[in-house]
Amino acid sequence: ESSSIPKLDRFDSTFDFLQEGYDFIGNRCRSLRTDAFQTRLMLRPVTCVRGPAAVEMFYAPGRLTRRGAMPATVVSLLQDRCSVQMLDGEAHRLRKAMFLDMMVPDRLYQARLMLSDELDQTMRPYRGQSVELRRIINLVMCHVAFRWCGLELRREDMQARCEDLCAMIDSVGSLGPRRARAAWLRMRGERWARRRIAQVRREGETRGWAIDRLAEHRDIDRSPMPDSVCAVELLNLLRPIVAVGRYIVFAIHALQTNPAAAAALRQDQSDAALENFCDEVRRLYPFFPVIGGRVLEPFEWRDTAFAENDWLLLDLYGTCRDPSAWTEPHRFDPCRLADRQPPTSLVPQGGGPMKTGHRCPGERLTRALLAEGVGFFLNLDYSVPPQNLEIRHDTIPPWPRDGMRIHVAAQSS
Ligand code: HEM
Repeated sequence: ESSSIPKLDRFDSTFDFLQEGYDFIGNRCRSLRTDAFQTRLMLRPVTCVRGPAAVEMFYAPGRLTRRGAMPATVVSLLQDRCSVQMLDGEAHRLRKAMFLDMMVPDRLYQARLMLSDELDQTMRPYRGQSVELRRIINLVMCHVAFRWCGLELRREDMQARCEDLCAMIDSVGSLGPRRARAAWLRMRGERWARRRIAQVRREGETRGWAIDRLAEHRDIDRSPMPDSVCAVELLNLLRPIVAVGRYIVFAIHALQTNPAAAAALRQDQSDAALENFCDEVRRLYPFFPVIGGRVLEPFEWRDTAFAENDWLLLDLYGTCRDPSAWTEPHRFDPCRLADRQPPTSLVPQGGGPMKTGHRCPGERLTRALLAEGVGFFLNLDYSVPPQNLEIRHDTIPPWPRDGMRIHVAAQSS
């Protein structure tokens, strides 16, 4: 065989992957001086890839499917069967358009207003006190998510919904009891969403903007989505909006640990400067380590034949830090992104084209919310008490070790 893709000596690398987490693929690419290697994970042969050439190969239209491309435990917590991510071709394009149509400038602007309002209400009582941001950001984001989707919820119900959504995010990388609890909460969340959708349809009146879109959407066969699928897609809006809260906390961490970049941003708080700062946060902070794909259409890459059903894993985290794409990749430097289009190697939310591929449709909403969140904290008078700021690499996804505590000044505006 003339394949130029090296194979690891180890029979199976699952244990190493679990131990090294975000760094697993990058570590091996560095030591083997390659951007692709083959091994087994959970006994299944897989080709792990990273970097700009790999992104191009991975996101070639029609080449890969997400079905059967991630462990079932991850899929059931995040995207689930029947969701947009499990569709391909024209069926996918139609469902994806529904999501993308939601990301119009006015809705992005509304999202920002909602976030600044919720942050303001939440932070006000903490004047003169310390607060761990990890403890409060999820509920803030839950309120934003439900308001943005046009769903009213009693305050006491919000707590339960928040628990469901956060468990789905926090437990992606875990097994055992924690996962079992998350699966139960996921089911609870889905039951709630299904009831809500069914109610909207029964009553036939408009119930808020996003949920109406879901209820009215027609799939490729012109049929409306069943209640259960609507519910899954509703969670696909609510859950990741809550997840953006982590990026806001990471941004506060970045402001604290990169004084020069923070000072520059305080000087120039223009939209462009804020956006570059936020994109640098998305580039460097750990979220989804990898995305999997299973081959639909056989192809050749690096003198290697990829056959139907072959499994590929693209290193999202490692591509954002690939030395062949970024100079001094580990340095936090928002200026690197100034005056240019987002590079193909900026893939924290996937890569390639958005309409026809699986790249995250929430990227613009994520950037808008993150920018608003950073703007809010830039204008809040707070200090950061001594604490452990480490971000571990073996929890997926992690928080700063002590939850990012801040002390809000008594007289903060
Ligand atoms: C897909 C990350 C926010 C909705 C994805 C993918 C990643 C990702 C890695 C998979 C890309 C692929 O399969 O190639 C993130 C991160 C977020 C975020 C890190 C912020 C913390 C959002 C938001 C929304 C959203 C705010 C919507 C409100 C979706 C949907 C998909 C997706 C529906 C499936 C798209 C498809 O299969 O075509 N996201 N996302 N995400 N994301 Fe996000």
